[in-house]
Amino acid sequence: MNYQTARGTHDILPSEMAEWNEVESIMKHIAKAYHYQEIRTPYFEHLAVFKRENDSSDMVNKEMYAFSTETETLALRPEGTAGVIRAFDEHKLYGSMELPAKLFYLGAMFRHERPQKGRQRQFHQFGIENIGIKEPEVDAEVIALGYDIVKKLDIQNIKVLINTLGDDESRNAYRTALREYFTPHLDDLCGDCHRRLEQNPLRVLDCKVDKDKDYMKNAPKLADYLNEESKAYFERVLSALDALGIPYEIDDHLVRGLDYYSHTVFEVVSTRDDSAAQATIFGGGRYDHFVEYFGGPELSGIGFAIGLERLISLAKDEGYAFNNEDEVDAYVIGLGSVQKEVLKVMHELRKADLIVDGNLQMRSLKSQFKSADRAKAKAIIILGEDEVKANTVNIKWPTSKEQVTVSMEDIVKTIKEKNA
Ligand code: HAM
Repeated sequence: MNYQTARGTHDILPSEMAEWNEVESIMKHIAKAYHYQEIRTPYFEHLAVFKRENDSSDMVNKEMYAFSTETETLALRPEGTAGVIRAFDEHKLYGSMELPAKLFYLGAMFRHERPQKGRQRQFHQFGIENIGIKEPEVDAEVIALGYDIVKKLDIQNIKVLINTLGDDESRNAYRTALREYFTPHLDDLCGDCHRRLEQNPLRVLDCKVDKDKDYMKNAPKLADYLNEESKAYFERVLSALDALGIPYEIDDHLVRGLDYYSHTVFEVVSTRDDSAAQATIFGGGRYDHFVEYFGGPELSGIGFAIGLERLISLAKDEGYAFNNEDEVDAYVIGLGSVQKEVLKVMHELRKADLIVDGNLQMRSLKSQFKSADRAKAKAIIILGEDEVKANTVNIKWPTSKEQVTVSMEDIVKTIKEKNA
C-alpha cells in the first residue's frame, strides 16, 4: 500500500503557509485595486466545457483528468478560463454586470503532465478574466495587473514576451499558408503534428519533437499574414505598454499552448539561469469567440493565469523577504490544577480578538516557558492556584522583561495596552 502523495502533487505544510497566504493576499489586494471581483467555479465540470470541438491543444487532448460516473462524463479543471466563461454565460453575467466584467479566481488546477521542477499535476493558479470590451488599452491594463504582482514580490529578472495572433481573417490566411507549406513534409512530421496540421496548423510550430528541423525554421511567419486592422490593434497595445513604462519583447514565435486565442498573446518569463525549462510565470491572451461558444453574446475577453508554485519559488530565489512572523499576542501558563481557569482566560482573550495559545497539560514551568518562547509570545500570562484564589494573574513581557500583577478583569486591557 502506498500512502504517500500521488506523483505530481504536493502537501503545502504549515511552515510554508505564511508564504502562500502573503502571496495570495498581495494578489487579491492588487486585483481589488484594479476593481476585479472574485469568482469561484467548480473543480470539476462536464468534460465538454474543457474539451471543445476541434481543440488541438495538448492540455485538452493529452493532459486531462477525465472520468465517467453512471450518468455523466466529467473532468477536473485543467485551467480556469473555460469554467469562468461558462459561468459568465450560464448566469448571464453579461446582463447583470457592468462591462467589462472583471473577474479573478484562485485555486487548484489539474493536468496529467510529466512532473518536474515547476511542473506538477495539481498546481495552483491565480487568474483574471476581463470580458466584454475589446480595446488595445484593456490588453495593456491586464498585462499591467500581472506585472504589478510580480514586481510587488521584488522579482526583477523577468521578460515580458508579447505577440499577436491577429484576427480571424489573418489567422485563416496564415493557417492556409502553413497547411500548404507543411503538406509536402507530411512524412517527416510526428504523429501529433499530423493531427495538429488537420485541426490547427499553428500548433505544429509549437511541436517539441520536430522543433529543430530545418523546415520548421523556414516556415511562413504569422507577421506576414496580418491584415491592417490586426497590425494597428497590436501597435496600440504596444504603445499603451510604453505609456505604462512596461518593458516588453516582441516574440513572433509565441503562439501559446491553448487554442482559444486571437490578437494579443503574452507570457512573462524568468530570465534567471537556474529557472531553466519551466520559466513561464504567467501567460494569457485575448479570446474572441469563447463567450459565444457557451451560448452567450458575441463578446471578446482577455485574461491571464499565474502559477503560484512558480511565483513563490521565484520570489524566494530572488530574495523577497516573506513576513514569516507567526507570533501570538499572549501565551497562558498554568501552575497546579488550574486547567479550567487557563481555558477561561484564553477564551476571554480570544473573544477580544487576540491571538492566544496556552498549555492545558500543566507541564513543568520550564517546559511551558519554552513553549511560550517557541510560539513567539509577546506576553506570557502565568496563573497559579494562589493567583486563582486572589483573582489575579502575573503577566510578563519577554522582550522588555517587564512584569505586572493584575486582576482577572484587567487582563485584556493590560495586554492590549502594553502589546501595542
Ligand atoms: P497556461 O499558460 O496554460 O494558461 O497556464 C498559466 C500558468 O500556470 C503558467 O504560466 C504556469 O505558471 C502555470 N502552470 C501551468 N501548468 C502548470 C503545471 N503543470 N505546474 C505548475 N504550474 C503550471 C492558462 O491556464 C490560461 N487559462 C490563461 C488565460 C487566462 N488565458 C486567458 N485567460
